[in-house]
Amino acid sequence: MLDNSTCGFTSPKEDFEIISGSSQSSSLRTENYSRFDKVLIIGLGQLGLPVAKYVKDKGFDVYGYDISQKAIQRAEKIASIKKADNFSEFDVYIICISTHRPDDMFTPQIDGLFSIVQEKIAKEAKNGALVSIESTIPRGTSKKVFEMLNHRLHVAHIPHRWYALEEKEHGVNQLRVVGGVCDCCLKAAVQFYGQFNGNNNINSDNGNGNGNHSILMRDGDIGITTPSTIDNSAAVAMDDAITNTSFAPANASSPSPTTGKNNIIVNYTPNLGIPLHPVSDVEIAEITKIAENAHRYLQIAFAEDIYLYCQANSINFPELREALNTKWNVEILEPRDGIGGHCLPKDTKMFLQSSKSVSTRSRILKASMEVDEEYKRYRLSRASQTANIQTSRRTGRTAY
Ligand SMILES: NC(=O)c1ccc[n+]([C@@H]2O[C@H](COP(=O)([O-])OP(=O)(O)OC[C@H]3O[C@@H](n4cnc5c(N)ncnc54)[C@H](O)[C@@H]3O)[C@@H](O)[C@H]2O)c1
Repeated sequence: MLDNSTCGFTSPKEDFEIISGSSQSSSLRTENYSRFDKVLIIGLGQLGLPVAKYVKDKGFDVYGYDISQKAIQRAEKIASIKKADNFSEFDVYIICISTHRPDDMFTPQIDGLFSIVQEKIAKEAKNGALVSIESTIPRGTSKKVFEMLNHRLHVAHIPHRWYALEEKEHGVNQLRVVGGVCDCCLKAAVQFYGQFNGNNNINSDNGNGNGNHSILMRDGDIGITTPSTIDNSAAVAMDDAITNTSFAPANASSPSPTTGKNNIIVNYTPNLGIPLHPVSDVEIAEITKIAENAHRYLQIAFAEDIYLYCQANSINFPELREALNTKWNVEILEPRDGIGGHCLPKDTKMFLQSSKSVSTRSRILKASMEVDEEYKRYRLSRASQTANIQTSRRTGRTAY
């Protein structure tokens, strides 16, 4: 993660404060964070519209922007989202625009995202605002966006796990991974998104002891520690510090900040109440999204592979699948129509292309793409055989 000094952050409002812990006071400093009120959702499609609605329902002043007039009108009609006339004076920019080629939804393209950043946000946004990228993006995008903004704004990536068919369980408000380009970007994002959720205590450890973050969540407040490793005693101390704090309600206006034992952020501002899993490097957040979809891609491709095996060897696939799935750690999916939608193919390609070295690009994923193509060819040939048989039955002639 980049050092905070690279981020030209200034804040006119001071409802958010990190209070240095006595044990680490020499290396920690007190910083003030923004209050977020006015939010612009950029891209009001399948994802952006429910996001806009959710943010509005949380009491923020929400505006929308889209290159499609239809999308803007729909957002106005369905969720009373106000149309943004310009990009100035927003505290948060949430980017939900598509990240595939307009003429090919399976091929990643982020030109539209870069152009919005360069042509609109960079020119009009005030210093210290938060740019939150919720679109799925290739590794390295957040840092490029940060550069384009000349380090004037916070840039964070909070990839989505939204699923249209199960919006209630897997909608906007589900556990999300969050990464920031700088430490202060991450903290700003956590301030805006974070939920304190009873005993919910989310720790992340990148395995090498660097940049670890622990977030302890309670209603309306945030605590972040940034030691190199988090152990139970640190977590308990943090928990105590938070418990001993007299909290203002989430919508309280500017109460006086509270001190604590460790390095604590006390958040008095409203937030989105979304459970978070913070990571130490924004690229981990970027890779998480595309690798989790690549993982799903693999699972489906394996089901297709077994299906093709069954067809070639006259084995009953449903029966085999049922038998396999009786084991506790096996879950063979149904291959159905093959790998569909645009997210899985696009994001899997993003993951494949994200490796700097071509020779280390995932071979298993390349093979799974071939399996999916073969499976779809097989389905097509079966469908046309069936159609031919039906035609010949209707006409009484053999079809060739
Ligand atoms: N839909 C999902 O289930 C889902 C889930 C997780 C992540 N995502 C990711 O979220 C992003 C958006 O996906 P979606 O499904 O909402 O796509 P979508 O095509 O439904 O909507 C995208 C919207 O962005 C607008 N747009 C495109 N380029 C723009 C630009 N330059 N400026 C302003 N608006 C622009 C389009 O007009 C459209 O309204 C993608 O990166 C996708 O991979 C989607």
